[in-house]
Amino acid sequence: MFLRNVTDEDLPIFFQHQRDEVALRMAAFPAREHDAFLNHWRTKVLRPENESRTIVADGEVAGYVSSWEQDGQRLVAYWVGREHWGKGIATRALSEFLVLEATRPLHAWVAVHNIGSRRVLEKCGFREVAHENPPQEDGVAEVLMMLGPK
Ligand SMILES: CC(C)(COP(=O)(O)OP(=O)(O)OC[C@H]1O[C@@H](n2cnc3c(N)ncnc32)[C@H](O)[C@@H]1OP(=O)(O)O)[C@@H](O)C(=O)NCCC(=O)NCCS
Repeated sequence: MFLRNVTDEDLPIFFQHQRDEVALRMAAFPAREHDAFLNHWRTKVLRPENESRTIVADGEVAGYVSSWEQDGQRLVAYWVGREHWGKGIATRALSEFLVLEATRPLHAWVAVHNIGSRRVLEKCGFREVAHENPPQEDGVAEVLMMLGPK
């Protein structure tokens, strides 16, 4: 597994990963349509002030890790294609990403029911700092996890 810069050719693969129904339920995330997804990546995610890396595993694009600023917090998020789940890829990718994304504290919002993602964050040193209550309109409660400050 290694991280590299995101290329435009990676985006259709990320799109396929994010339209997976199982992954969407896990992340409690609304799917973007094809054009909206590509546009979001090209105009928002891939801005110079953000950090984004493609995860390569077994010679394939396995997902991404990305960080950005929102409401005064530096946030991190990641997505791994289902065919690559359960091999420790997200944990290794986030660990490596945390070397190049040095901002602390670093935060992540995760759905309460997303046990896998909460575990990935815990294994990388994040701790729960806030529990959203009441849940959002869609009924999904989220937890705020934090790493740092240094
Ligand atoms: C969550 C996600 C990133 C996990 O990726 P992964 O590469 O399979 O994770 P890892 O193999 O590194 O697993 C890390 C730990 O989580 C556990 N885990 C992973 N998925 C799990 C699941 N669905 N249920 C319970 N535990 C799970 C693993 O057992 C492992 O724990 P362990 O070391 O104690 O055994 C991946 O499923 C994904 O991208 N899901 C859809 C998008 C998403 O939820 N993104 C995060 C939004 S906050």
